[in-house]
Amino acid sequence: MRAYKAKSVKRIELPDRAARERHLREAGHNVFNLDASAVFIDLLTDSGTGAMSDEQWAALHCGDESYAGSESFRNLEATVEEVMGFSRIVPAHQGRGAENVLYGALVAEGEYVPNNTHFDTTRAHVVNAGGEPVDCPVESGPDDPFQGNLDVDAVRDLAEEVGAERIPAVVVTITNNSLAGQPVSIENLRAARTVADDLDARLVIDACRFAENAYFVAQREAEFEGESVAAVAREQLSMADAVVMSGKKDGLVNVGGFVGIREGDDELYEQARQRAILFEGFTTYGGMAGRDLEAMAVGLGEAVEEHYIESRVEQVAELGALLQEVGVPIRTPTGGHAVYVDAGEFLPSIPREEFPGQALVCALYREGGVRAVELGELAFPGTERPQLVRLCLPRRTYFRDHLEHVAETFAAVADRREALSGYEIVDEPTMAELRHFSAELRPLA
Ligand code: F0G
Repeated sequence: MRAYKAKSVKRIELPDRAARERHLREAGHNVFNLDASAVFIDLLTDSGTGAMSDEQWAALHCGDESYAGSESFRNLEATVEEVMGFSRIVPAHQGRGAENVLYGALVAEGEYVPNNTHFDTTRAHVVNAGGEPVDCPVESGPDDPFQGNLDVDAVRDLAEEVGAERIPAVVVTITNNSLAGQPVSIENLRAARTVADDLDARLVIDACRFAENAYFVAQREAEFEGESVAAVAREQLSMADAVVMSGKKDGLVNVGGFVGIREGDDELYEQARQRAILFEGFTTYGGMAGRDLEAMAVGLGEAVEEHYIESRVEQVAELGALLQEVGVPIRTPTGGHAVYVDAGEFLPSIPREEFPGQALVCALYREGGVRAVELGELAFPGTERPQLVRLCLPRRTYFRDHLEHVAETFAAVADRREALSGYEIVDEPTMAELRHFSAELRPLA
């Protein structure tokens, strides 16, 4: 049961079928090019798209816009210490800004950074700092409650191969966004801590979805049964030397982020502050307005409230169950922020080089005005990744009838899947890794 009610709402509209066909054509069959006003149910991302609470909106009025030493920064600092256990933070405009600050300070040319799975921007910032990102996910099956875990042995093998001195940091992303939003256990974080110590490397946690991960730990890890999500959240982050945070996820705000650095690590803290001044803004605002700092302080506290986090994660499971009822193949169990559909299995007649995921994304928009995102051959060209489509739920935004509409849309697509064709790219940018954001495509039939 959702323990909140709508207080301010936004009207949404389903354009008629002819308009949807036209919008899709004009967008070059790429839903990133659609106007949001033409989208009925928007499941593109959970990043910065959620609803703020009345207390967050009230906090906006208390924003202190001082350039240096803002009161709102002090409030955020105190909340991060209370909720996440880090007394020192360096604010940034969003998660990738925080990544630039941290990885630019941590990683040098020719070094290696293992991660359970790098999110796209994390990978890009490690590469930008001259490093080599190495994905080390565990091999697991659908019965494994912690499919997001880091393969600690793979990290040790990497150290053996390249030399421990070339590994400045071990990173664990909780939950593992690139691996269907699957959680990481505290047992695994402890093992990651041990390996980092053995390699004399720092342990970094990408904490964007730390509250969702803590909820799974409280539900699934025997040692933490009956523990509050707030207590688990602190325990899991206590393992890290530094955290990178995008406030747009479990900060429950529309923009913002920060790096948290363990007390005593003065060298890293100073380097991060210098980089923040260069790229983000002075160290007490980091690209955020004072009001944004204030709203994030309130949001971080709300993110670990039991009634919120339970309804959040359970809503994702609810969408998954509705889709399974109409026969849609999804990754199970569902993760913390999104349902991942196996488009290769849903549309078996479309080969990977004809982008089955994109064919499904286009069909969902055409059929029901639903916007999803392709995470397969279009987004990750030339990799072995499965052809997935992600349906991401914005926080505190949609209700059960919206989810039912999504399931009905899938059922309608399933009824005419034989008639769906693959796609080809007609125009793409020079950077292949970014092509899914702006490429234009054409249906093959
Ligand atoms: N780390 C992870 C695990 C993320 O999922 C994201 C963003 C970032 C870092 C970067 O944060 O967007 O604030 O700069 N993920 C969004 C998504 C964009 O749709 O999954 P940001």
